[in-house]
Amino acid sequence: MPKKVSKLVCLYLSLIFASVSSAFAGTTVDCHFIQDVSDNTIRGMFVFGSSLVDNGNNNYLETTSKANYLPYGIDFPYGTSGRFTNSKNVIDLLCDQVKLPLIPPFQDPSAKGSKILHGVNHASGSSGILNDTGSVAGNATSLSQQIMDFEVVTLAELEAQLGCNSSQSLPSYLIVVGVGGNDYMLNYFLRKLYLLISIETFTANLIASLDQKLQKLYSLGGRKFVVTSLMPLGNSPVITRPNIIGTPSGLNYAAELYNARLKTLLDSLKAHLSDFNFVLVNQYNIISNLTQSPPSRTGFKDTHNPCCAVSLVSQGGNGISCDRGGKTCVDRTTYMYFDGLHPTEAVNVEIATKAYASTLQGDAYPINVSQLVRLQI
Ligand SMILES: *[C@@H]1O[C@H](CO)[C@@H](O)[C@H](O)[C@H]1NC(C)=O
Ligand SMILES: *[C@@H]1O[C@H](CO)[C@@H](O)[C@H](O)[C@H]1NC(C)=O
Ligand SMILES: *[C@@H]1O[C@H](CO)[C@@H](O)[C@H](O)[C@H]1NC(C)=O
Ligand SMILES: *[C@@H]1O[C@H](CO)[C@@H](O)[C@H](O)[C@H]1NC(C)=O
Ligand SMILES: *[C@@H]1O[C@H](CO)[C@@H](O)[C@H](O)[C@H]1NC(C)=O
Repeated sequence: MPKKVSKLVCLYLSLIFASVSSAFAGTTVDCHFIQDVSDNTIRGMFVFGSSLVDNGNNNYLETTSKANYLPYGIDFPYGTSGRFTNSKNVIDLLCDQVKLPLIPPFQDPSAKGSKILHGVNHASGSSGILNDTGSVAGNATSLSQQIMDFEVVTLAELEAQLGCNSSQSLPSYLIVVGVGGNDYMLNYFLRKLYLLISIETFTANLIASLDQKLQKLYSLGGRKFVVTSLMPLGNSPVITRPNIIGTPSGLNYAAELYNARLKTLLDSLKAHLSDFNFVLVNQYNIISNLTQSPPSRTGFKDTHNPCCAVSLVSQGGNGISCDRGGKTCVDRTTYMYFDGLHPTEAVNVEIATKAYASTLQGDAYPINVSQLVRLQI
């Protein structure tokens, strides 16, 4: 090849290369993450679900499902905050495990700008997978609405903060979903939907709806999901004491059915969506195990009474919420349930620790959260 021609080809090729690489750079602007001191491979977490994971959203909503009064938060360093337990909930403890600061609730007007860089919590007490779950208590934010708020408000803010598309930033965040119990307790059972629809059909509808919502979160960029199973709902004080919802065996059967279908759903999403990764935190197993093991080993002397005073429906309460300003048990680390439904911080510690570090698939399936955060995507 004459020298001149080869020079031209070379120039031409380098021009092509330059334009290809600049086009490539145009679509993948690096996210301007703030520098972290730790060797964290995740930047934060976005949370969706019900009261078990709500950290104050319901304070701002018109609903009777609230935890903005004592004794809720009695042991929490920042006092009463809207968390449905005596101190930290499982999200706070998961943040501790992965070395993240506490994340703000979505409804908090100050949850803006750089305050959302470690994530936002969209969860709302009494809400469920179905839009109408929780309406008995007022205006909960349904899972659909939580995800819409996330897409429209939170992700827009995150993109502005980081200067990149959510499809580039979200793989660096955990997407935590803890939902479903209220669809049975406050919807299927409380409203006696079993007179109209079998529990198998109802559960199939719930799982189909959850499937769509997880796929939506995936389409926005979510790649690392932490999903909690239902707890043994029938063991909670609201169901073991006189109530208008259902029986222990009925509620536990519902939870087992849902949990089995949930596992199948997550396996199927992983098989079909590239880079979809998840941890299923088997709260059912973790809590039943604590209930069945000897107190000398677990430290839980009381596995079935609420630690705080809870009025039954016949006494003007709802069987779940702590009475306002009511008494609590003295040693809150020895009770499993803080109110009629929500575990004490001591149980939340067990759940978060097992989620993060357990080597048993019966606790965290198919990997633990420690492995999930370290996955390179
Ligand atoms: C809930 O929101 C609707 C409007 O979306 C409103 O009509 C209703 O009064 C609100 N409050 C309660 C307690 O449901
Ligand atoms: C649930 O509510 C969302 C808005 O929050 C709405 O877009 C959706 O269509 C509703 N789903 C059903 C099944 O009604
Ligand atoms: C983000 O990326 C997705 C897929 O690459 C694209 O569909 C979407 O329009 C982008 N959004 C923005 C705000 O650039
Ligand atoms: C609880 O889990 C431990 C392992 O963490 C196991 O050794 C024990 O047998 C389990 N107990 C029950 C009652 O399931
Ligand atoms: C997580 O699971 C892996 C694999 O079973 C195990 O090696 C590791 O010790 C577990 N815990 C932590 C904190 O990584």
